[in-house]
Amino acid sequence: MVKVKSYANIAIVKYWGKKDAEKMIPATSSISLTLNDMFTETEMEFINDEDIKIAVEKEIKKNRNCEDKFLGMTDLFYLNGELQDSVHTEKISKVVDLFRENRNQKVKISTTNNMPTAAGLSSSSSGLSAVIKACNELFEKNYTQSELAQISKFGSGSSSRSFFGPIAAWDKDTGEIYEVKTNLKLAMIVLVLNENKKKISSRNGMELCAKTSTYFDEWVKQSEIDFINMKKYLAENDFEKVGTLTEENALRMHKTTETANPPFSYFNEKTYETMDFIKNLRNNGEKCYFTMDAGPNVKVLCLEEDLEKLAGIFGEKYKIIVSKTVKL
Ligand code: DP6
Repeated sequence: MVKVKSYANIAIVKYWGKKDAEKMIPATSSISLTLNDMFTETEMEFINDEDIKIAVEKEIKKNRNCEDKFLGMTDLFYLNGELQDSVHTEKISKVVDLFRENRNQKVKISTTNNMPTAAGLSSSSSGLSAVIKACNELFEKNYTQSELAQISKFGSGSSSRSFFGPIAAWDKDTGEIYEVKTNLKLAMIVLVLNENKKKISSRNGMELCAKTSTYFDEWVKQSEIDFINMKKYLAENDFEKVGTLTEENALRMHKTTETANPPFSYFNEKTYETMDFIKNLRNNGEKCYFTMDAGPNVKVLCLEEDLEKLAGIFGEKYKIIVSKTVKL
């Protein structure tokens, strides 16, 4: 059995849209922080048909009338202790296919997230990258971090950035995924406004926006400039500019949802209130900036040196996850 740990990442310049879904070429280059305290732990081992039969029978005993859910499963996938149905398992099986010769090599994957799953909290980036790391060990591939990142993007684009840290970039033109250097010690506070699963996955959301948003071309153009500028501001260790651009880039990404057909939004009322709260704090001298992904939760970008003070302020009002970045 192998056991690995992988970290979530949250983008400060967003990947939103695919230029070529088959080759996994993103429409926009992206930059993210890899977070030390938001992670997935994954165990993986080889199993046989009998193991699958026993696990499914056990599940059916617990929960009658659910036979159909587990039909045709060729692997076992447990998420936070719960056996996943064939639809979910198939998604992970496809990722394992990137490493195995054929489906006769069956595996059991047990994965635990230390954060809510699929609420736009980037559990997919740590989850997918963890499976990739586990496969690398179980199938004894010895791939480099760069090679693993390149494989991981086929599971989920953003997961590719979890192989580098504290800051990672994914370049749409070269396809490269690499570490970005800065002397800034960045950190994040996730404000958990809603732990429910997101209504529109990032995959479906970005596809709808790329196809129908009247603002999408402009988003792609502006994002190209954002990527260049963000790397410059990071190299210059200019936190104010990094923070300001983080907010602008996130709002531009979300403008593509408002201008899609049909229009939609990942935000709720609390998201808007929270953005205002952060702006007010800034007006009072605090160094903090917001970003949001495919969900209503707000992530606060700050400096590590302010983490404790800001966690105190946000912790009074919100359920928070506080995290430094991790050096990989
Ligand atoms: C909003 O990586 O989940 O979090 O490649 O289709 O699996 P797929 O999408 P995914 O998209 C993440 C989008 C985002 C922004 C980001 O992390 O850059």
